[in-house]
Order: sequence, then C-alpha cells, then structure tokens
Amino acid sequence: MAVHARAISPATAKTDYRERPIGVFDSGVGGLTVLHELLVALPHEDYVYLGDTARFPYGERTPQELTRFALELSEELLARGAKLLVVACNAATSAALGALQERMLETTLGVEVLGVVRPEAAQAVAQTRSGRIGLLATPTTVASAAYDRALAAVDAHVTLTAVPCPGLARMIQEGQEFSAAAVELVRAACAPLIAADVDTVILGCTHYPLIGRMLQRMLGPQVRLIASGPALARQVEHALTTRRLRSASEREGEYRFLCTGEVESFSALATRFLQMPLTAVEQVALGALADAEGAIGVG
Ligand code: DGL
Repeated sequence: MAVHARAISPATAKTDYRERPIGVFDSGVGGLTVLHELLVALPHEDYVYLGDTARFPYGERTPQELTRFALELSEELLARGAKLLVVACNAATSAALGALQERMLETTLGVEVLGVVRPEAAQAVAQTRSGRIGLLATPTTVASAAYDRALAAVDAHVTLTAVPCPGLARMIQEGQEFSAAAVELVRAACAPLIAADVDTVILGCTHYPLIGRMLQRMLGPQVRLIASGPALARQVEHALTTRRLRSASEREGEYRFLCTGEVESFSALATRFLQMPLTAVEQVALGALADAEGAIGVG
C-alpha cells in the first residue's frame, strides 16, 4: 500500500474560505460518530476526516504523547485546507485542546479548534434531574479530570461518578464489541454507575455510542445517555454561523478520509459505522512532524 506524504490538496487552492472543508480527527473510527452528526447537521459542508489508526488506542497514552499527536494531525488537516478543526476524540481533547488552540492562534490565520468534553458536560447538566452524573471513558480521559472541571464550571452542585474502561475502545474498533468478554467488561463498567444511582451518563469516548443500545439496556430506561456528537455538532454550527464560515453551497458536501494505518480495515469499518460506501481512503505518514517535535517545543 502506497504511503503518501502530506500532499496539499486542491482544497487549499479554494480562495473562498467558506468553501474549504471542516477537518475532523480521532485516534481511529470513533470520531465517525461525531462526523455522522456533523453530516446530519451541516450536509452542505465538505469534510476531511483523519483517523490516527497507526497509533490507536489513545486511551492509555500520556498527555505529552497525545499533545504531540494532536498537533501533527492538526497540521495535516490544515495542509489540506481545513477552515475549522474538530477534535472528535475525548482523550485528545482532554489532554491537548488548550495547547492546540494556542498553537492554531499562533501559527495560522486563527483557525478555530473545537473539542468534545465541554459540550457534553453542558448537555449533561441540562439533562440531569438528580444531579448525579456518570461518566464512561478511557483511562487517560478519566485521569485527566477534564470532565470534573467541565461539569464544575457549569454547575458546582452536580456529582460525577467516573469509570475508566480500559480496552473497550479497542474491542469496538476491532469489531469485538459483542463478544462475551466485551459484554462482561461493559456490565462491570455499568455496575458503579447503577450503584451511584446516576440518571445521566456521559459517553466520554467517541467509540462508545457504537454500543449505545447495549449500554441503555444495562443501565435501564430511566438513564439518559449523552454522546459527544450531537452536542459538538451544534457548537460547530454556531461557530461557522457566527464567524460567517458556512458554505454558501446547496449541494451535498464532499467527504475525504485519511488514516495513518492500514487502509482496508479502516475503509471496511468506516463504511459499516457510517452506513456510507467510502471511496478512496488515503494513507498518510506523519513521521516527519514527529521528528520536528523538538522544534515544536511541546511534549
Ligand atoms: N475515541 C477516542 C476517545 O474519544 C479514543 C479511544 C482510544 O483511542 O483509546 O477517547
């Protein structure tokens, strides 16, 4: 499989900034749950999606590594002409959103970076009646306490029961989410949330909506699940509108898919998750940027 360097696409040649694509990235296919919501909310926009499948999973990596990866992925998407960046990964958002936003303001024409976490926290506070909120997320995201901070900023009186779920995103990405081992893992993760009598559960990993039905059955009908996609899609819509960046086009948008790992499995999974036949998926190599890490000064 040919590996392409960071080719600059014709998208960068688009002089009307509004017609440039929205860049979206994740460690793998989980961010497609966010992309789906964006396609529903903003169907006339173009998108370029980048899954860092070669370095998946992110959920047990250090904040320093995640910051470096997030900067590399963002540079790649900017090189493809992105007008706005969406971090469709909770682990990367909780570790790197601040650094990314600073970098984008310093080095570009002020391209805005939006992430998950905050929009779901606001939505969870709006939904809960008891004030008892649960969180299912990767170990890195739970350890970052990003949700504790985001919830406290909206309402200091809610309580959070956070459960790390090591290995769950991998099982989902490998298509093993309904194996006996996965079902047991999910059951064990739900137990502390049931014991804490939460009425709202944040799915703090963009892979988890893919097992939303199983979670709803295990947690019970009274529990509301909050996923990253819908809340973030609304924020993206607001950002594009207030910054006058919405595409003026009435046609269906164009979608491009990039990944850092093997193309065939990404393509098959993405087709299944999005229920959309994917045309060519391009493999990208990000190593050159990793070498420049010292020069970037982050990590
Ligand atoms: N989908 C990503 C997240 O939202 C990460 C899963 C992983 O790479 O471990 O956290």
